[in-house]
Amino acid sequence: MRSVALPELRQHHGAQTALPWWTALDGVVYDVTGFAKRHPGGERVLRDVCGRDGTAAMVAVHPRDMAARVLSPAEVVGRLDATGITPEDVAKDPTARAAPEREEARPPLEQMLNAFDFEAVARETLSAEAWGYYSSGADDEISLRENHTAFQRVWLKPRVMVNVRAVDTTCEVLPGVSGRSALPLYISATAMGKLAHPDGEQAIVRAAHAANVVYMLPTLSSCTLEEMLAVRAPGQAVFSQLYVNADRERTREYVQRLERAGVRALFVTVDAPQLGRREKDMRNNFTSAKSDVQRGEDVRRDEGVTRAISSFIDPGLCWDDLGWLMGLSRMPLFLKGVQCAEDAVLAFRRGCRGVVLSNHGGRQLDASRSAIECLAEVMPALRAEPGYSRDRFHVYVDGGVRRGADVFKAVAMGATAVGVGRPVLYALAGYGQPGIERLVRVLRDELEMTMRLMGTPRLADASDAHVITRDLATHVTPTPRDFLAETTYEPLQTQTQRAGRKRGDVRGRL
Ligand SMILES: Cc1cc2nc3c(=O)[nH]c(=O)nc-3n(C[C@H](O)[C@H](O)[C@H](O)COP(=O)(O)O)c2cc1C
Repeated sequence: MRSVALPELRQHHGAQTALPWWTALDGVVYDVTGFAKRHPGGERVLRDVCGRDGTAAMVAVHPRDMAARVLSPAEVVGRLDATGITPEDVAKDPTARAAPEREEARPPLEQMLNAFDFEAVARETLSAEAWGYYSSGADDEISLRENHTAFQRVWLKPRVMVNVRAVDTTCEVLPGVSGRSALPLYISATAMGKLAHPDGEQAIVRAAHAANVVYMLPTLSSCTLEEMLAVRAPGQAVFSQLYVNADRERTREYVQRLERAGVRALFVTVDAPQLGRREKDMRNNFTSAKSDVQRGEDVRRDEGVTRAISSFIDPGLCWDDLGWLMGLSRMPLFLKGVQCAEDAVLAFRRGCRGVVLSNHGGRQLDASRSAIECLAEVMPALRAEPGYSRDRFHVYVDGGVRRGADVFKAVAMGATAVGVGRPVLYALAGYGQPGIERLVRVLRDELEMTMRLMGTPRLADASDAHVITRDLATHVTPTPRDFLAETTYEPLQTQTQRAGRKRGDVRGRL
């Protein structure tokens, strides 16, 4: 392979645009003029690496062998001659923080006592872009906060004098399909795992196995589907989340790949015909977002990671499509993002195997209710349906689950299991796979303690009789101040504030 130096490359445009359509990956220079049109995130996403060494930026969110797999030998220009390369010639890793800073912010893993501890560490260790993308909620983040505080409006009514020497938190999250889990909890689908950790979703698959919980693979993963599936342990159950592509043929192919690979259940996301405005994410102007998956159209990259990766989602998806979706595979089908009794009942009547009550972690419609509040409305409506039974139709909830007691409350109110999203990303960001394993262990231990103190040694013992939910729908009610969660909101930093000027000095006059 011939050697090429920067001056020659600067002449090498390869397109009738001002942008130099070449990049160097692992020392090899590629002409990406053609690839730009094929890139799943659209050609604009490639701009940051064009005309520069893109290795660090690429491996931050993609598998290392990506270039060799998606670029052909005909697109190789030569081997990069590193003479004269300056830091400006190297595209930055969008996820990186200086290593010493990361280490300093990371207490030993044993000091992580609860889900919020992981969040506090993640905030310090994640890049601004990754933190913005993961932690943001839609608009005023009302639903984001509500998801967590709603659990605090459910009070517990323990029974005493019950033999609780042995407490069993294990269950089948999807009876007859998923195998037994350590507790009624699964890891929900969250996009772009590599923003948290270089191993991305692969680390989550491994951790799910080690912690004995099921992982719902995201459509918008930063590892390829094959990479996620390849690290499954023998017999490990995984679910899959699905965004339906406007190009229905792509969805059909994708679902069939999932079924061939032995994925146990399909969760179709139905709360995202348009992605919510997540302003913390948008403010970052994140231009380097990339994900594998189904190909999308060109994207507006000034709107944060969210818009950059989601342009292919079909806003036309409706109840009439359910028959087609069910016909694509034999996997049990669930709707993820149902938010009222009427839709849960429709899903039941139309033959779904269940629903996830969810407002997408408060990232979609702001002021939508928490899943736990919806659960209180949904269960009586389902119980009134002829033919309904808890074995036949499963109700899951996600959003704001941060304590074992939250898991208990949901199960007592009728949920089969709960999903967790952000806590897993935060644990991954700070500590990789062992972090997720510890997070699950902590939640399991908390659940076990709650069950013991509640006088419910088996999950089946927990029922409506153990929870007081009458305040749940009353949104104005005194709740304790939530110091842990409140510290995660980040307001806009004005130029003045960024410049570090004092309040009395200038701000009062703005
Ligand atoms: C960073 C992030 C990315 C997400 N990506 C997806 C996604 O691609 N598809 C989806 O259906 N839900 C997605 N979700 C929603 C989660 O599956 C889940 O509903 C939510 O995170 C639960 O709330 P929690 O984060 O409070 O646990 C995402 C959530 C987060 C925080």
